[in-house]
Amino acid sequence: MFTKRHIISTRDFTKEEIDYVLNRTEELEIYAGGQGEGARKKSGLLEGKILANLFYEPSTRTRLSFEVAMKRLGGEVINLSSPETSSAAKGENLVDTIKVVSEYCDIIALRHPKEGASRMAASFSPVPIINAGDGAGQHPTQTLLDLYTIKKENLLDKLAIALIGDLKYGRTVHSLAYALSLYGAKLFFVSPEALRMPEEIKMDLREVGAEISEATDIKEVIEDVNVLYVTRIQRERFPDPTEYSKVVGTYRITTELIKRNEDVVIMHPLPKIDEIDGEVDRTKNARYFIQAFYGIPVRMAVLSILLDR
Ligand code: CP
Repeated sequence: MFTKRHIISTRDFTKEEIDYVLNRTEELEIYAGGQGEGARKKSGLLEGKILANLFYEPSTRTRLSFEVAMKRLGGEVINLSSPETSSAAKGENLVDTIKVVSEYCDIIALRHPKEGASRMAASFSPVPIINAGDGAGQHPTQTLLDLYTIKKENLLDKLAIALIGDLKYGRTVHSLAYALSLYGAKLFFVSPEALRMPEEIKMDLREVGAEISEATDIKEVIEDVNVLYVTRIQRERFPDPTEYSKVVGTYRITTELIKRNEDVVIMHPLPKIDEIDGEVDRTKNARYFIQAFYGIPVRMAVLSILLDR
């Protein structure tokens, strides 16, 4: 459907294209490993293909799940896992790196601290670029795995969701909010005043008819939603550390809070720091670890579609 295309932003997708990825994910999940029944099934779908992981920022889930996804489908992976161990440390610019690495591989997953880096890289790359996170911009494959998690809960077509935390700098919520609007979700933005969803994103969402409301305390909306999507405060994106110290610790999901809505599904893109009480991990509401696992089948689907297999 979008073979050989770059994946830069959720704004580049139609709802039909997202549904296509989610359906392909369902087909490939048996090859994803983990603890499920199909854990030992093998696939050679991407045999002979090479993924280059270019990560200029730290990552656990995205980089490793791209690597596992490629390997579970029989492909191979080359890694640049930190700028310090590459020629970026000698001053090489991203364009030159992309021009070279794109000759070494069939597809590139790129994480970079600068917003817009993936779109710029795409304009120089003969192979598909997948944006694996660009500063406070976008993280489209995270959105796809978030949607897959919600679909697995049978909530995609009746969704009322609170996006909680750092809505200013959090790229996962920027990506996700737009995609959710395609599914007619009711969106509740819950954040400290200083970390509200950027105006331009809210304007875009209103233009496509999204139903949005805002709050500063999760208690105001918890009974009106079926999903809490919690995010950490993105300390590394604050230009001034004193501004970070003013907002750190201002919200926390606890078992006491969940008693107000016992069926609520709790998601988080991870890593989590202190915004979810450890006790919550043991509740039936917590889905963030299975959500992280779904990164594998979703990225298998993305890789196989882009590589036309
Ligand atoms: N959710 C996510 O992007 O996690 P990592 O930063 O560990 O890749």
